[in-house]
Amino acid sequence: LVVMFSLQTLMAQNYDESKVGNYRLPELLKTQKRKTVSTIKDWEKIRRPEILNLFENHVYGQVPKDFDDIAFEVTNLDKNAMDGKATLKEVAITVTRNQKSVSINLLMFTPNKAKKPVPMFLVINHRGIKTMDITRQNKDGFWPAEEVIEAGYGISGFDVIDVSPDDKVKFREGVLNQLYPEQLEMNNGMRALGAWGWGAARAIDYFEKDKAVDAGKIISVGHSRGGKASLWFGAQDKRVAITISNESGNSGAALSRRNFGETVERITNHFPYWFCPNYQQYANNENKLPVDQHMLIALIAPRAVYVASAAEDLWADPKGQYLALTEAQDVYELYKVHTNLPAEMPDVNEQIIRPHIGFHNREGKHNMTPYDWQQFIQFADNYFKRH
Ligand code: GCU
Repeated sequence: LVVMFSLQTLMAQNYDESKVGNYRLPELLKTQKRKTVSTIKDWEKIRRPEILNLFENHVYGQVPKDFDDIAFEVTNLDKNAMDGKATLKEVAITVTRNQKSVSINLLMFTPNKAKKPVPMFLVINHRGIKTMDITRQNKDGFWPAEEVIEAGYGISGFDVIDVSPDDKVKFREGVLNQLYPEQLEMNNGMRALGAWGWGAARAIDYFEKDKAVDAGKIISVGHSRGGKASLWFGAQDKRVAITISNESGNSGAALSRRNFGETVERITNHFPYWFCPNYQQYANNENKLPVDQHMLIALIAPRAVYVASAAEDLWADPKGQYLALTEAQDVYELYKVHTNLPAEMPDVNEQIIRPHIGFHNREGKHNMTPYDWQQFIQFADNYFKRH
């Protein structure tokens, strides 16, 4: 009994602000050689590549960029979808390396009223294909296609199962076994979250060829585990104009050193296959991490980033996500983008829109909802007016 009790105490997550404790974040603007970074040049030439490397080697694993061939085939086209309001396309994206291939089924709607190529929301979807019902019989608020089309944007997505199934064992099926088996041998090799972002990058490869899409205005969206993948993807791929993280929490937008909600120990225990094996060593050892998650957000700068939280989703630590965002501002400042976020997290349902940075903490539970999407659209409207 005593043993069980102490085990449970060990595993329990903290939800008490007074028990968060003190922590010191790794310095964003100090290079490994202890040089202070104060110019865009030093950031782009030295510090940014260093931080990218640290995330590859210690958290998510590297993301291979090479393959032999990529082919796009439109397998379904309906110019009269949504009662004539939208065009539906299904695109089979087939990527080949060393004679083996993987196919991603990309789903997309674009608004028919658009007079020019549209900005495109791209969802890294771990909730299954049913949430993106192309017949639109099932209108899931997680992927509110009608509202997005009405607002003049395209909406798209793919099921992560096509690249790396969200499963402890099966995650290897897909790009890891087929295209990059050597990654599985490496302690800093790609795993599921990296693979999902890799899939999103292939979707952008397609958008660059589709005249209905403005490939300079891609908005990456992910919820929770998908939000972690979206941030890691947006951090690496400069073709992403706006990176959206919805309630990504631990190993996403939330600071790992804050002892609040989910921890590195809990996540690496339950979801080891999301991260590279090296990440395991930071379980109950966050202070040894050479990075924290504010540095992931900073890699996105000066491109736009939006972090959404939900007030009842304490597991994802809304305050920890907000603090990470405020810490990342220093890099935006290097680019003369003045974001001036308030030091305190804004009230529930109060949206913060700054040039290049957005945030809200919606009332309610862990989910991605039409309310969240309305905020994303407002933010994108505002950002694309200037970019
Ligand atoms: C679990 C996991 C989180 C993750 C979430 C989700 O709760 O612990 O890290 O974000 O699932 O993807 O919904």
